[in-house]
Amino acid sequence: MNQKTVLITGASSGFGKLAALKFQQSGWNVVATMRSPERETDLTQLENVVVTRLDVTEPASIEVAVKLTITTFGTIDVLVNNAGYGGHSLFEQATDENIRAMFETNVFGVMNVSRAVLPFMRQQKSGCIINVTSMAGMLAAPTISIYASTKHAVQGLTEGMAFDYKPFNIRVKSVLPGAYPTTRFNANTSDILKAGDAELVAHAEKLHTHLQDVAQKMANQGGQVADPQEVADKIFECATQDTPINNPVGSDAEMLAGMIAKADSRQAFIDQVTPLLMPPV
Ligand SMILES: NC(=O)c1ccc[n+]([C@@H]2O[C@H](COP(=O)([O-])OP(=O)(O)OC[C@H]3O[C@@H](n4cnc5c(N)ncnc54)[C@H](OP(=O)(O)O)[C@@H]3O)[C@@H](O)[C@H]2O)c1
Repeated sequence: MNQKTVLITGASSGFGKLAALKFQQSGWNVVATMRSPERETDLTQLENVVVTRLDVTEPASIEVAVKLTITTFGTIDVLVNNAGYGGHSLFEQATDENIRAMFETNVFGVMNVSRAVLPFMRQQKSGCIINVTSMAGMLAAPTISIYASTKHAVQGLTEGMAFDYKPFNIRVKSVLPGAYPTTRFNANTSDILKAGDAELVAHAEKLHTHLQDVAQKMANQGGQVADPQEVADKIFECATQDTPINNPVGSDAEMLAGMIAKADSRQAFIDQVTPLLMPPV
Protein backbone atom coordinates (compact mmCIF):
# COMPACT_ATOMS: atom_id res chain seq x y z
CA MET A 1 0.00 0.00 0.00
CA ASN A 2 2.39 2.73 -1.25
CA GLN A 3 -0.27 5.18 -2.26
CA LYS A 4 -0.26 8.33 -0.16
CA THR A 5 -3.28 9.55 1.77
CA VAL A 6 -4.64 13.05 2.30
CA LEU A 7 -7.40 14.15 4.65
CA ILE A 8 -9.08 17.41 3.62
CA THR A 9 -11.54 19.46 5.68
CA GLY A 10 -14.30 21.52 4.06
CA ALA A 11 -14.27 19.39 0.89
CA SER A 12 -17.92 20.06 0.05
CA SER A 13 -17.10 23.09 -2.11
CA GLY A 14 -14.53 25.64 -3.25
CA PHE A 15 -10.83 24.99 -2.75
CA GLY A 16 -11.46 21.90 -0.61
CA LYS A 17 -13.41 20.10 -3.31
CA LEU A 18 -10.97 21.10 -6.07
CA ALA A 19 -8.07 19.92 -3.90
CA ALA A 20 -9.81 16.57 -3.31
CA LEU A 21 -10.16 16.14 -7.09
CA LYS A 22 -6.54 17.17 -7.72
CA PHE A 23 -5.15 14.63 -5.22
CA GLN A 24 -7.45 11.88 -6.50
CA GLN A 25 -6.48 12.54 -10.13
CA SER A 26 -2.83 12.40 -9.06
CA GLY A 27 -3.26 8.89 -7.67
CA TRP A 28 -3.68 9.66 -3.97
CA ASN A 29 -6.13 8.17 -1.49
CA VAL A 30 -8.43 10.98 -0.44
CA VAL A 31 -10.54 11.35 2.67
CA ALA A 32 -12.84 14.21 1.70
CA THR A 33 -14.49 15.43 4.87
CA MET A 34 -17.46 17.74 5.20
CA ARG A 35 -20.33 18.62 7.51
CA SER A 36 -23.06 17.17 5.26
CA PRO A 37 -21.63 14.20 3.31
CA GLU A 38 -25.16 13.04 2.42
CA ARG A 39 -25.34 15.99 -0.01
CA GLU A 40 -22.16 15.05 -1.90
CA THR A 41 -22.72 13.37 -5.25
CA ASP A 42 -19.48 13.90 -7.25
CA LEU A 43 -16.66 12.81 -4.96
CA THR A 44 -18.58 9.74 -3.81
CA GLN A 45 -18.32 8.31 -7.36
CA LEU A 46 -14.53 8.33 -7.43
CA GLU A 47 -12.07 5.54 -6.79
CA ASN A 48 -9.88 5.82 -3.69
CA VAL A 49 -12.04 8.59 -2.27
CA VAL A 50 -13.85 8.24 1.05
CA VAL A 51 -16.40 10.93 1.78
CA THR A 52 -17.16 11.25 5.45
CA ARG A 53 -18.56 13.64 8.03
CA LEU A 54 -16.26 15.96 9.93
CA ASP A 55 -17.22 19.21 11.60
CA VAL A 56 -14.03 20.96 12.72
CA THR A 57 -15.83 22.30 15.79
CA GLU A 58 -16.84 18.78 16.94
CA PRO A 59 -13.88 16.77 18.27
CA ALA A 60 -15.93 13.53 18.31
CA SER A 61 -16.56 13.79 14.55
CA ILE A 62 -12.85 14.45 13.98
CA GLU A 63 -11.84 11.37 15.96
CA VAL A 64 -14.21 9.17 13.94
CA ALA A 65 -12.96 10.54 10.59
CA VAL A 66 -9.29 10.15 11.55
CA LYS A 67 -9.87 6.56 12.75
CA LEU A 68 -11.70 5.77 9.51
CA THR A 69 -8.76 7.14 7.52
CA ILE A 70 -6.27 4.94 9.37
CA THR A 71 -8.41 1.80 9.17
CA THR A 72 -9.16 2.34 5.46
CA PHE A 73 -5.80 3.51 4.13
CA GLY A 74 -3.29 2.80 6.93
CA THR A 75 -1.77 6.32 7.07
CA ILE A 76 -2.42 10.03 6.94
CA ASP A 77 0.42 11.58 4.98
CA VAL A 78 -1.10 15.01 4.50
CA LEU A 79 -3.75 17.00 6.36
CA VAL A 80 -5.28 19.98 4.57
CA ASN A 81 -6.97 22.30 7.07
CA ASN A 82 -9.17 24.12 4.58
CA ALA A 83 -12.56 24.52 6.31
CA GLY A 84 -13.29 28.11 7.15
CA TYR A 85 -15.44 31.10 6.46
CA GLY A 86 -15.31 34.85 6.43
CA GLY A 87 -17.48 37.89 6.44
CA HIS A 88 -17.34 41.65 6.41
CA SER A 89 -18.23 43.98 9.25
CA LEU A 90 -16.79 46.72 11.35
CA PHE A 91 -15.46 45.39 14.64
CA GLU A 92 -18.36 46.91 16.63
CA GLN A 93 -20.96 45.33 14.34
CA ALA A 94 -19.85 41.77 15.09
CA THR A 95 -21.32 40.33 18.28
CA ASP A 96 -19.24 38.36 20.74
CA GLU A 97 -21.12 35.29 19.45
CA ASN A 98 -20.23 36.07 15.81
CA ILE A 99 -16.57 36.49 16.70
CA ARG A 100 -16.32 33.36 18.85
CA ALA A 101 -18.08 31.28 16.18
CA MET A 102 -15.58 32.37 13.53
CA PHE A 103 -12.63 31.63 15.83
CA GLU A 104 -14.17 28.22 16.67
CA THR A 105 -14.08 27.22 12.99
CA ASN A 106 -11.13 29.13 11.54
CA VAL A 107 -8.70 28.81 14.47
CA PHE A 108 -9.79 26.17 17.00
CA GLY A 109 -11.01 23.99 14.13
CA VAL A 110 -7.49 23.91 12.69
CA MET A 111 -6.11 23.10 16.15
CA ASN A 112 -8.71 20.36 16.77
CA VAL A 113 -7.97 18.47 13.55
CA SER A 114 -4.19 18.93 13.82
CA ARG A 115 -4.27 17.62 17.41
CA ALA A 116 -6.06 14.46 16.25
CA VAL A 117 -3.68 13.76 13.37
CA LEU A 118 -0.29 14.62 14.87
CA PRO A 119 0.15 11.48 17.02
CA PHE A 120 -0.14 9.35 13.84
CA MET A 121 2.30 11.57 11.95
CA ARG A 122 4.79 11.45 14.84
CA GLN A 123 4.51 7.68 14.91
CA GLN A 124 5.13 7.56 11.13
CA LYS A 125 7.96 10.08 11.54
CA SER A 126 6.61 11.92 8.51
CA GLY A 127 3.73 14.10 7.51
CA CYS A 128 2.61 17.44 6.20
CA ILE A 129 -0.04 19.82 7.54
CA ILE A 130 -1.23 22.51 5.14
CA ASN A 131 -3.33 25.31 6.59
CA VAL A 132 -5.37 27.34 4.12
CA THR A 133 -5.17 30.83 5.57
CA SER A 134 -5.59 33.93 3.38
CA MET A 135 -3.88 37.07 2.16
CA ALA A 136 -5.85 38.48 5.11
CA GLY A 137 -3.26 36.62 7.19
CA MET A 138 -0.67 39.04 5.76
CA LEU A 139 -2.73 42.23 5.92
CA ALA A 140 -5.93 43.11 7.77
CA ALA A 141 -7.96 45.22 5.35
CA PRO A 142 -10.95 47.42 6.30
CA THR A 143 -14.13 45.51 7.37
CA ILE A 144 -12.31 42.22 7.87
CA SER A 145 -10.66 42.78 11.26
CA ILE A 146 -12.29 39.65 12.73
CA TYR A 147 -11.62 37.37 9.75
CA ALA A 148 -8.07 38.72 9.43
CA SER A 149 -7.43 38.12 13.12
CA THR A 150 -8.47 34.45 12.70
CA LYS A 151 -6.15 34.06 9.72
CA HIS A 152 -3.28 35.89 11.47
CA ALA A 153 -3.75 33.47 14.37
CA VAL A 154 -3.37 30.49 12.06
CA GLN A 155 -0.33 32.08 10.43
CA GLY A 156 1.29 32.24 13.88
CA LEU A 157 0.21 28.70 14.64
CA THR A 158 1.68 27.49 11.33
CA GLU A 159 5.07 29.11 11.81
CA GLY A 160 5.35 27.96 15.44
CA MET A 161 4.30 24.41 14.62
CA ALA A 162 6.72 24.32 11.68
CA PHE A 163 9.54 24.77 14.23
CA ASP A 164 8.04 22.35 16.79
CA TYR A 165 7.51 19.47 14.40
CA LYS A 166 10.55 19.83 12.11
CA PRO A 167 12.52 17.29 14.20
CA PHE A 168 9.72 14.76 13.61
CA ASN A 169 9.94 15.23 9.84
CA ILE A 170 6.47 16.81 9.87
CA ARG A 171 6.22 19.87 7.64
CA VAL A 172 3.70 22.54 8.55
CA LYS A 173 2.88 25.14 5.89
CA SER A 174 0.27 27.64 4.92
CA VAL A 175 -1.32 28.48 1.60
CA LEU A 176 -2.46 32.12 1.53
CA PRO A 177 -5.00 32.64 -1.28
CA GLY A 178 -5.97 36.03 -2.61
CA ALA A 179 -9.58 36.73 -3.58
CA TYR A 180 -11.27 33.94 -5.57
CA PRO A 181 -14.88 33.58 -6.65
CA THR A 182 -15.54 30.42 -4.62
CA THR A 183 -16.43 31.56 -1.25
CA ARG A 184 -19.74 32.25 0.36
CA PHE A 185 -17.90 35.05 2.18
CA ASN A 186 -20.58 37.61 1.44
CA ALA A 187 -23.43 35.31 2.39
CA ASN A 188 -22.33 35.75 6.01
CA THR A 189 -22.08 39.49 5.67
CA SER A 190 -25.30 41.21 4.66
CA ASP A 191 -27.07 41.18 8.06
CA ILE A 192 -24.02 42.06 10.10
CA LEU A 193 -23.21 45.05 7.89
CA LYS A 194 -26.62 46.50 8.77
CA ALA A 195 -26.05 46.24 12.53
CA GLY A 196 -25.56 49.28 14.73
CA ASP A 197 -26.41 52.96 14.58
CA ALA A 198 -26.84 54.91 11.35
CA GLU A 199 -23.31 56.34 11.43
CA LEU A 200 -21.78 52.89 11.83
CA VAL A 201 -23.94 51.36 9.07
CA ALA A 202 -23.13 54.17 6.60
CA HIS A 203 -19.40 53.92 7.37
CA ALA A 204 -19.43 50.12 7.04
CA GLU A 205 -21.23 50.32 3.68
CA LYS A 206 -18.77 52.86 2.35
CA LEU A 207 -15.71 50.82 3.35
CA HIS A 208 -17.24 47.55 2.20
CA THR A 209 -18.27 48.86 -1.24
CA HIS A 210 -14.81 50.33 -1.80
CA LEU A 211 -13.06 47.14 -0.69
CA GLN A 212 -15.24 44.98 -2.95
CA ASP A 213 -14.28 47.19 -5.87
CA VAL A 214 -10.56 47.01 -5.06
CA ALA A 215 -10.69 43.24 -4.47
CA GLN A 216 -12.39 42.67 -7.80
CA LYS A 217 -9.87 44.80 -9.68
CA MET A 218 -6.93 43.07 -7.96
CA ALA A 219 -8.31 39.57 -8.45
CA ASN A 220 -9.09 40.25 -12.10
CA GLN A 221 -5.67 41.58 -13.01
CA GLY A 222 -5.00 41.13 -16.71
CA GLY A 223 -8.76 40.92 -17.37
CA GLN A 224 -9.00 37.32 -16.15
CA VAL A 225 -11.22 36.05 -13.37
CA ALA A 226 -9.02 34.38 -10.74
CA ASP A 227 -9.21 30.61 -11.15
CA PRO A 228 -9.66 28.69 -7.85
CA GLN A 229 -7.88 25.72 -9.42
CA GLU A 230 -4.66 27.70 -8.77
CA VAL A 231 -5.24 27.24 -5.05
CA ALA A 232 -5.88 23.48 -5.36
CA ASP A 233 -2.69 23.20 -7.42
CA LYS A 234 -0.72 25.18 -4.82
CA ILE A 235 -2.02 22.93 -2.03
CA PHE A 236 -0.89 19.89 -4.03
CA GLU A 237 2.50 21.48 -4.71
CA CYS A 238 2.94 22.11 -0.96
CA ALA A 239 2.08 18.46 -0.25
CA THR A 240 4.49 17.03 -2.79
CA GLN A 241 7.37 19.50 -3.06
CA ASP A 242 9.84 21.35 -0.94
CA THR A 243 8.04 24.71 -0.74
CA PRO A 244 8.46 27.54 1.80
CA ILE A 245 6.34 27.65 4.97
CA ASN A 246 4.23 30.52 3.59
CA ASN A 247 2.78 30.12 0.10
CA PRO A 248 0.77 33.06 -1.26
CA VAL A 249 -1.32 32.20 -4.31
CA GLY A 250 -3.08 34.52 -6.76
CA SER A 251 -1.85 37.72 -8.36
CA ASP A 252 -3.21 39.87 -5.50
CA ALA A 253 -1.71 37.75 -2.69
CA GLU A 254 1.60 37.47 -4.53
CA MET A 255 1.66 41.23 -5.10
CA LEU A 256 1.08 41.89 -1.38
CA ALA A 257 3.78 39.41 -0.37
CA GLY A 258 6.18 41.15 -2.78
CA MET A 259 5.32 44.59 -1.35
CA ILE A 260 5.88 43.36 2.22
CA ALA A 261 9.24 41.88 1.26
CA LYS A 262 10.38 45.10 -0.42
CA ALA A 263 9.06 47.61 2.15
CA ASP A 264 11.53 49.24 4.54
CA SER A 265 9.21 48.56 7.49
CA ARG A 266 5.74 47.24 8.31
CA GLN A 267 4.52 50.84 8.66
CA ALA A 268 5.99 51.75 5.27
CA PHE A 269 4.02 48.87 3.75
CA ILE A 270 0.79 49.92 5.52
CA ASP A 271 1.30 53.54 4.36
CA GLN A 272 1.73 52.24 0.82
CA VAL A 273 -1.54 50.26 0.79
CA THR A 274 -3.70 52.74 2.73
CA PRO A 275 -4.67 54.90 -0.30
CA LEU A 276 -5.71 51.72 -2.12
CA LEU A 277 -7.75 50.22 0.70
CA MET A 278 -9.50 53.33 2.03
CA PRO A 279 -12.13 55.22 0.00
CA PRO A 280 -11.36 58.85 -0.84
CA VAL A 281 -12.54 61.17 1.99
N1 LIG B 1 -12.34 32.22 -1.74
C1 LIG B 1 -11.53 33.14 -1.31
O1 LIG B 1 -11.47 34.25 -1.85
C2 LIG B 1 -10.61 32.84 -0.15
C3 LIG B 1 -9.49 33.65 -0.01
C4 LIG B 1 -8.60 33.39 1.02
C5 LIG B 1 -8.83 32.33 1.86
N2 LIG B 1 -9.94 31.55 1.73
C6 LIG B 1 -10.09 30.43 2.66
O2 LIG B 1 -10.17 29.24 1.91
C7 LIG B 1 -10.86 28.24 2.66
C8 LIG B 1 -11.91 27.59 1.78
O3 LIG B 1 -12.83 28.57 1.38
P1 LIG B 1 -13.54 28.60 -0.05
O4 LIG B 1 -13.21 29.91 -0.66
O5 LIG B 1 -13.25 27.37 -0.80
O6 LIG B 1 -15.05 28.72 0.42
P2 LIG B 1 -16.29 27.69 0.47
O7 LIG B 1 -16.57 27.20 -0.90
O8 LIG B 1 -17.34 28.43 1.22
O9 LIG B 1 -15.74 26.47 1.32
C9 LIG B 1 -15.65 26.51 2.72
C10 LIG B 1 -15.72 25.11 3.23
O10 LIG B 1 -15.55 25.12 4.66
C11 LIG B 1 -16.57 24.28 5.19
N3 LIG B 1 -16.86 24.56 6.60
C12 LIG B 1 -17.29 25.69 7.16
N4 LIG B 1 -17.44 25.51 8.49
C13 LIG B 1 -17.09 24.23 8.75
C14 LIG B 1 -17.02 23.42 9.91
N5 LIG B 1 -17.38 23.88 11.12
N6 LIG B 1 -16.59 22.13 9.80
C15 LIG B 1 -16.24 21.64 8.60
N7 LIG B 1 -16.31 22.33 7.45
C16 LIG B 1 -16.73 23.61 7.54
C17 LIG B 1 -17.77 24.49 4.29
O11 LIG B 1 -18.66 23.43 4.50
P3 LIG B 1 -20.26 23.51 4.40
O12 LIG B 1 -20.55 23.13 2.98
O13 LIG B 1 -20.74 22.51 5.38
O14 LIG B 1 -20.65 24.91 4.74
C18 LIG B 1 -17.08 24.45 2.94
O15 LIG B 1 -16.83 23.13 2.54
C19 LIG B 1 -11.43 28.95 3.89
O16 LIG B 1 -10.60 28.68 5.01
C20 LIG B 1 -11.36 30.43 3.50
O17 LIG B 1 -11.24 31.28 4.62
C21 LIG B 1 -10.84 31.79 0.73
